[in-house]
Amino acid sequence: MIPEKAPAAVIVLAAGAGTRMKSRTPKILHEIGGRSMVGHAILAARSINPRQLAIVVRHERDLVARHLAELDPAAVIVDQDEIPGTGRAVEAALQVLDAEELLTGTVVVTYGDVPLLSGDLLAELVATHEKEANAVTVLTAVLEDATGYGRILRGEDGTVTGIREHKDSSETERLIREVNSGIYAFDAAVLRDALTHVTTDNSQGEKYLTDVLGLAREAGGRIAAVVTADRWQVEGANDRVQLSALGAELNRRTVEAWMRAGVTVVDPKTTWIDSTVTLDEDVRLLPNTQLHGTTSVARDAVVGPDTTLTDVTVGEGAKVLRTHGSGSVIGAGAAVGPFTYLRPGTVLGESGKIGAFYETKNVTIGRGSKLSHLGYAGDAEIGEDTNIGCGNITANYDGEKKHRTVIGSGVRTGSNTVFVAPVTVGDGAYSGAGAVIRKDVPAGALALSVAAQRNTEGWVPANRPGTRSAELAQAASTDSSSTPASTEEGK
Ligand code: UD1
Ligand code: CA
Repeated sequence: MIPEKAPAAVIVLAAGAGTRMKSRTPKILHEIGGRSMVGHAILAARSINPRQLAIVVRHERDLVARHLAELDPAAVIVDQDEIPGTGRAVEAALQVLDAEELLTGTVVVTYGDVPLLSGDLLAELVATHEKEANAVTVLTAVLEDATGYGRILRGEDGTVTGIREHKDSSETERLIREVNSGIYAFDAAVLRDALTHVTTDNSQGEKYLTDVLGLAREAGGRIAAVVTADRWQVEGANDRVQLSALGAELNRRTVEAWMRAGVTVVDPKTTWIDSTVTLDEDVRLLPNTQLHGTTSVARDAVVGPDTTLTDVTVGEGAKVLRTHGSGSVIGAGAAVGPFTYLRPGTVLGESGKIGAFYETKNVTIGRGSKLSHLGYAGDAEIGEDTNIGCGNITANYDGEKKHRTVIGSGVRTGSNTVFVAPVTVGDGAYSGAGAVIRKDVPAGALALSVAAQRNTEGWVPANRPGTRSAELAQAASTDSSSTPASTEEGK
């Protein structure tokens, strides 16, 4: 449901200390699904297009304000003073928002620590509020255990009459299972007037926003509730147990949404997808896969099992198996893994390969080039259709500075080649096994840097007499059918 006109403002309350998190990080900066809790709250708030968005802060004010400025530079940051309570927080926000011109219309209040609230539910709350011309509409849920929450008071005919805080409620009121979510739509004028009458005269010595409902009703306004059956959407995270439960539920929803959008997820329980990730139809995710940040996966690609990708772009039809990668691009039809570590700046071209036990960093690899097994490629550029042999590394660090290795197209390097950067290898060049490339290799050249092999015949029987090796060596030299001692290079 889309409200007919934009609400005047959304006020996100985020001044609380969050002591139960036991953390140096402010509560609302803790993340689930790759986004801070307040980031989720802002996204929901923005989705209903308020004319203004205010966030009330106090605890760890500077840290929080810096995070908010990055997330949403247009949001108004409001400082709450030492007077405690949700009512005071909203009052502080109104003072700022009303400064130029008094707000009229609908003012929505939400919390910075309720990360699963959706824009759709918020829109439904606003639409109901405006359609019914209510003074206040509160979002509520019916819980098995309502302990700690404000209870929704209703009259004989079922109309909402007010909210009673748990600590201020009677035995009978505590039996009520319909609770206040803390999310509301208010008429701006009603809210402004009522707040001037809210006192700190209660068990917690706070200005309760919940008192506004009773006051609005006394002033002749209609107050009502939207009851949601989806308790997750109104659940806050006060400690790390709740944070993890909310994170798991968010992930369950995210994974399910992607499956409905055409992604195969073999094992939803071990697949973690941040809210910021994008996937195409016919992507396949195998068990134990985690996709974070700005990761995107194109059509027909297969990721997993046992793969963690952060800010990685996976091209169409690519295969990424048992890989840990960040800040990288994997081209269409390319293959990565198993046991591969892609560090930031890795760009693998179409149909390329980075195989088992390879680490890469800041390297561009051209179309069809393969680094199949055991090695390190850093600060390098590799052309197209080049084959880097087993165990090759770029020696990019001289102890002080990093240097570049440039390898052309159509190159074939022998096993265990070391590129001592800075160094350039021309197109179509070859290197021999064990070569240490310290000088540039011209196009088409064969680079060998290992001294010729020298075999000292009979060394083992002479120097290790009586050993099993010596015995076998002697047997081999007397046995005419065995291969003669070779003087050529071994494999
Ligand atoms: C509040 C409601 C309660 C409701 C519950 C839902 C009041 C008086 N009570 O209770 O009816 O069931 O939320 O979770 O409103 N905050 C500020 N400034 C403050 C105090 C709080 O910004 O001075 C913010 C907090 O950061 C938090 C939110 O408001 O995001 C709720 O505060 P909290 O202390 O958790 O309220 P409760 O006592 O749980
Ligand atoms: Ca709370």
